[in-house]
Amino acid sequence: MRQKGPYAMEFARLAVPDVDATKSFLDEFVGLDPVEGNFDRVYMRAANDHHSIELIDAAPGADVADVAAIGYSVESEAVLDELRASVAGAGHDVHDLAEATAQWVTTGFGVDDPNGLRFEFFTEYSQFADVPFRLFRPNEVVHPFLGTPKWRETVDFFVDVLRFRPSDYIRDNVAFLRSENRYHHSLAIRKTEQFEVEHICFIMQNLDHVMRGRAKAIYADIPIASDLVNHSGSESIAFYMHDPAHGPRFELCDGHVLMSEEQHETHKPRQMSLDPRNIDIWRPVADDWAGF
Ligand SMILES: [Fe+2]
Repeated sequence: MRQKGPYAMEFARLAVPDVDATKSFLDEFVGLDPVEGNFDRVYMRAANDHHSIELIDAAPGADVADVAAIGYSVESEAVLDELRASVAGAGHDVHDLAEATAQWVTTGFGVDDPNGLRFEFFTEYSQFADVPFRLFRPNEVVHPFLGTPKWRETVDFFVDVLRFRPSDYIRDNVAFLRSENRYHHSLAIRKTEQFEVEHICFIMQNLDHVMRGRAKAIYADIPIASDLVNHSGSESIAFYMHDPAHGPRFELCDGHVLMSEEQHETHKPRQMSLDPRNIDIWRPVADDWAGF
C-alpha cells in the first residue's frame, strides 16, 4: 500500500482590507454563503463543508488582500500522523493549528511551505447537514494555484514530503498535483519571479452557473483577469475575475475531471510542452500568452 496524501482543499484564510466588503463580494460574485453564528470572524461556505473562505482583517493600511493560510482535510488520523512525521522528518517545523481552524476539526497541524505560506492539515472537518438554500453557489473549493521562484523546491515539498501526486507537468514550469479526492489537481504550482497565490478555484454546479457568474461580474465591472478558457489538464472550462481588494483571482469552473480509483493509482503524469494551448486548448496559436 502506498502512503496516502491529503484528501481535499477545504479553505483559504484571506486577510482583507475590508471584511464586510469582501463578504459582500464573495456572496454576490462567487456565490458563497456567510456561515451564521456568533464568531469572531467571517466564514463563508459553498456547500456542506464548514467554510471555504475565512476572512480576517489585513494589516492596517493594506489596500490589497493576502492569502494567510490554506487548509486541507486528511481522511484519517493514521494518514495525518504519517504526514506529520514526514514533515518533521524532512526538518520542517510542525505548528499547532490556528484556533480558528482547530474549533472546526478533530486534530491537525500546520507547516510553512518553502515560500512561507502556512498550510494546515486536519481530520474530520465540520459539516452542515444541508447546502445553503440558494441557487447560485459553488459545489466546492478545489485548488489554490501558486506562483513561485522556488518552483522545484516547492514541488518537491508537496510531492515528497506531503505526498501530493503529480497529475501533469508543463515541463519545468507548471506542476498539477492531486490529492486523495482524485480531482486532476487540488494544488498547482507555476514558476514565477515573485511568490504569489495566483488564484483560488471553485467548481460551480454546471456550465450555466459559470456563465451566469461571468455575466454578473462583467455587468458589475469586476475585472475579468482571464476570460473563458478550456483547460487541457483538468478538462475544465473556466473564467477568472480579480479585484485585488478581495483576494487573488477567483476561478469559477465546470467540468474539472475526476479520476477513477484505478486512474488515481496508475496515472503517469504527462510532460506537456510549454505552449499556451497546453493551458487553454481553445487558443489557436502557439505564441499567445496574453490574458493568462
Ligand atoms: Fe485553476
